[in-house]
Amino acid sequence: MSELKVENLIKVFSHGRSKHVVLNDINFTVNHGEFLSLLGPSGCGKTTLLNIIAGFSRPSGGRVVVGETLVSGPGTDRAVVFQNYALFPWMTLKENILYPMKLQRVPPNIREERLRELLTLAKLEGKENLYPYQLSGGMKQRTAVIRALACRPRLLLMDEPLGAVDIQMRHKLQEDLENIFLKDPVTVLMVTHDIEEAVYLSDRVIVMSACEGRIIADVPIRLKRPRQRRSRQYYQIVCYLMDILHSDQGEGVSKGMGTGATFSF
Ligand SMILES: Nc1ncnc2c1ncn2[C@@H]1O[C@H](COP(=O)(O)OP(=O)(O)OP(=O)(O)O)[C@@H](O)[C@H]1O
Ligand SMILES: [Mg+2]
Repeated sequence: MSELKVENLIKVFSHGRSKHVVLNDINFTVNHGEFLSLLGPSGCGKTTLLNIIAGFSRPSGGRVVVGETLVSGPGTDRAVVFQNYALFPWMTLKENILYPMKLQRVPPNIREERLRELLTLAKLEGKENLYPYQLSGGMKQRTAVIRALACRPRLLLMDEPLGAVDIQMRHKLQEDLENIFLKDPVTVLMVTHDIEEAVYLSDRVIVMSACEGRIIADVPIRLKRPRQRRSRQYYQIVCYLMDILHSDQGEGVSKGMGTGATFSF
């Protein structure tokens, strides 16, 4: 069953008389429970696409369907995790997590139960009364993820969620994220330009062209979890995706590969 359908999506930004086509007929679906990464170089339109799916921005053409519903604006069926965490600085960790549940009028006893469950999941027990400025980058990131999961969205959208941390912390957080999603399953669409991160976390990786606003590859990743970063197959997939990104000159790769999966791992 597909949880998200992106159909013939087009986004054009106008600058005076000139027009910039950022997304050019994008089509893909994300299945229930799938973790899909959208991989592409800076400026290729990843955030633009995510913002349209989140309902923050309108497409110039085409449509987005979540479940059975046509997206026409933001909704509680989708939750977004931003790169800069976007926690409320005046609220404690606990208040940050309870806030969306209050907005959605979840009964207080269920709120408290879900809060405990999420704190355990993200290994944040005992930290609930701290304010964001008292948390490490990793703690803030995990708080942002569990806050997004609090009301059990159909779809979790993440834009470069680990972009702000160093490589060691990044690996650790990737492992934490995987654990959270294995225990609290959700359908995820993550935007990243980190190939290794996409391979570590995803069931499928969609690669976007640097300048044409198109999908140039759709690669299922069927490696067993947790993934072994030093395994041969893992390394092969990373290299395969790297080759696609490096050989993308706007048309070279796309002509040869089309948008279907040409290789699966
Ligand atoms: N509101 C806007 N008005 C005009 N142009 C925009 C707007 N938002 C984005 N763009 C342009 O659209 C293109 C894609 O931007 P986008 O932010 O989606 O890229 P990205 O793939 O997320 O890049 P990064 O990896 O650096 O975050 C860029 O050329 C950008 O300048
Ligand atoms: Mg972006």
